[in-house]
Amino acid sequence: MEKHEQLTAIRQYVTNSFNNERTGHDLYHLQRVTRMAMEIAREEDANLFRCEAIAWLHDVADHKLVENEESAIQALENFLESLPLTKPDIEAIIKAINTISFSKGKIPTSLEGKIVQDADRLDAIGAIGIARAFTFGGARGKFMYHEQDNDNTIQHFYDKLLKLKSTLHTSTAKSLAEDRHQFMQQFLEKFHQEW
Ligand code: ADP
Ligand code: NI
Repeated sequence: MEKHEQLTAIRQYVTNSFNNERTGHDLYHLQRVTRMAMEIAREEDANLFRCEAIAWLHDVADHKLVENEESAIQALENFLESLPLTKPDIEAIIKAINTISFSKGKIPTSLEGKIVQDADRLDAIGAIGIARAFTFGGARGKFMYHEQDNDNTIQHFYDKLLKLKSTLHTSTAKSLAEDRHQFMQQFLEKFHQEW
């Protein structure tokens, strides 16, 4: 199988499992992250094949989305072997997706992993980031905002979203983040004013 056919198969693999996802990790999230990762990858001279594969697959084993992370990783590994991808490609992809999620608190070691982590974080800030936060919060039954209870989505901006800008690795992502970060700050200012 040629590389582009392998990528088509990979896209198909996530399409099946993310088609009906409604907490902000839907197929369009994967599309945006992949497009953004490829844009950064071209600027940073990264391995485009690995970067695209990692981007499509980065949420496949997220603990918020699957019951058992280890078996999701195992199923993914079996799938990649069946294509077949080379051992070094499979190892690089699995290693990267094991470190990308913010909740894991890890920094990917490869450039391709760093790029997808950057692209994933860019999708959590700005206008889309705001919409995703309230979608996720709503799906989890959180308060939109609450004066006494910190389990609310506005609090999530202070706990996480406003911090993401300073965790980015590539200069391409850092410059794209500026505008999105400012927009969130303006949003919060307006929100508190209207509240
Ligand atoms: P990661 O995959 O890096 O761990 P998450 O899955 O935590 O990232 O976040 C995915 C999306 O859901 C983001 O847009 C994030 O802002 C939103 N989200 C995650 N946790 C919360 C929360 N407690 N309240 C509101 N939104 C959240
Ligand atoms: Ni993601």
